[in-house]
Amino acid sequence: MSDTAYHKMRTDTAPAPKGCPVDHEFSPFAEDYLQDPYAELEKLRGDAPVFYSEELGYLVLTRMADVVDVFRKPDIYSSENVQDPVLPICDAAAKVLGVPDYNPIAVMSNRQRPDHTRIRKHTQAGFSSRRIEALEPFIRRRCEAMVDEMLANGAPSDFVKWVGHPLPGETIFRFIGFPETDDKKLKEWTTNRLAFTWGKTTEAEQVDIAEKMLAYWRYCVSFVKAQHQAPADDFTSELLAGHDADLDDLTYKEVESIVYGLSFAGHEIVSNMLSNGLISLLSDRTQWEAVCADPGLIPNAVEEILRCNSPQTSWRRVATQDTELAGYKIPAGTQIFLSLGSANHDETLFEDPRTFDIERENAKTHIAFGRGIHFCLGSRLAIIEANITLEILAKKVPSLNLVKDQRFSYFPNFTFRGPKELWLTWSA
Ligand code: HEM
Repeated sequence: MSDTAYHKMRTDTAPAPKGCPVDHEFSPFAEDYLQDPYAELEKLRGDAPVFYSEELGYLVLTRMADVVDVFRKPDIYSSENVQDPVLPICDAAAKVLGVPDYNPIAVMSNRQRPDHTRIRKHTQAGFSSRRIEALEPFIRRRCEAMVDEMLANGAPSDFVKWVGHPLPGETIFRFIGFPETDDKKLKEWTTNRLAFTWGKTTEAEQVDIAEKMLAYWRYCVSFVKAQHQAPADDFTSELLAGHDADLDDLTYKEVESIVYGLSFAGHEIVSNMLSNGLISLLSDRTQWEAVCADPGLIPNAVEEILRCNSPQTSWRRVATQDTELAGYKIPAGTQIFLSLGSANHDETLFEDPRTFDIERENAKTHIAFGRGIHFCLGSRLAIIEANITLEILAKKVPSLNLVKDQRFSYFPNFTFRGPKELWLTWSA
């Protein structure tokens, strides 16, 4: 993979900063952590809120103030490492992606200033209120249909299969402009994609995902070409219009790479948010009943889901220069693990942080979407999808409940958190 590649393999790690506590046990892949990261994070915040993880080779930040400090200084703490595979990719998978025509480049989350500012101007314009609002009727119609199919299938049903995975997929595909006729193969190619970069996968899984990534990249390349020849009213055509207006202000390769990255940024993470949200709400019947009785509570409930049970529990940065962070001198090259999950449970900001409370007044001050120049571009779209899904479920099926004694199985993932399956039941 080349230096400008979308994914880069990083082999260098900086040592622990002088005087900084070193932890030999912290592992985001450990089963206990996957089941409930918040118990361990609470303990870590109390014992050593900043520590160096021996296993990861990362400096770990758990307090909101430190995480925000890093997000706010993009020139000192670069985001260039955020799409790098956390664990080495096997030779067979690297070979699949080693073909000359697999050549997406870093464009958004892992691109640095000044290029990031230039590119974000175009993408932000594409995420206009008009374009997102125009999608709402589609999201509502498809969500209604998917929920109806799930109900018709009968209880118990796996929410992830019937609604959680397909709804955000179709939403982002329509936003990009992909035709509905391609949904089936698109859903196949984009499944389990987060596992490639942030997950713990077998070699066979890596090869399978790499093959799908290659197929999906090739599809994106031909789709961008088709939209260039026959523009439509979609995000991709809007990017291409920006490219045509000034070829250097947004290059053709950048357009291809944005389209490629967007379906990953906006698909599985929303699936996980929907499932985590239902787990939180249905685990406390009084809060689910409150939402059913008064759907006006849903917007704040969604913010509380993002705070208390976020689909993204961490993100990364790397120091570009020798600097001082949280009182420690850290050398250039230090990789930083920002524990968003922990910051969202920081007791100096959130009273009784582990309690899920849909009426929490400051729920919205969470950091689930990041902060600063890379703040999530799809936050509004994700929130709309969650609001609509909860509205429809609360209206259609207030008797909804979790299948009893269900043990959720979480994907072994360094950053993203959501159950593989979510079994729901209801009364007929
Ligand atoms: C609940 C759902 C979501 C969560 C929790 C989430 C979270 C995040 C986070 C933490 C970042 C990084 C911020 C930083 O580095 O400072 C980010 C960036 C980004 N997100 Fe999201 N995201 C979600 C949904 C979406 C959706 C639906 C889309 C697209 C439709 C999207 C597109 C992006 C893009 C393009 C970036 C990079 C922005 C940039 O670098 O300028 N996200 N998101």
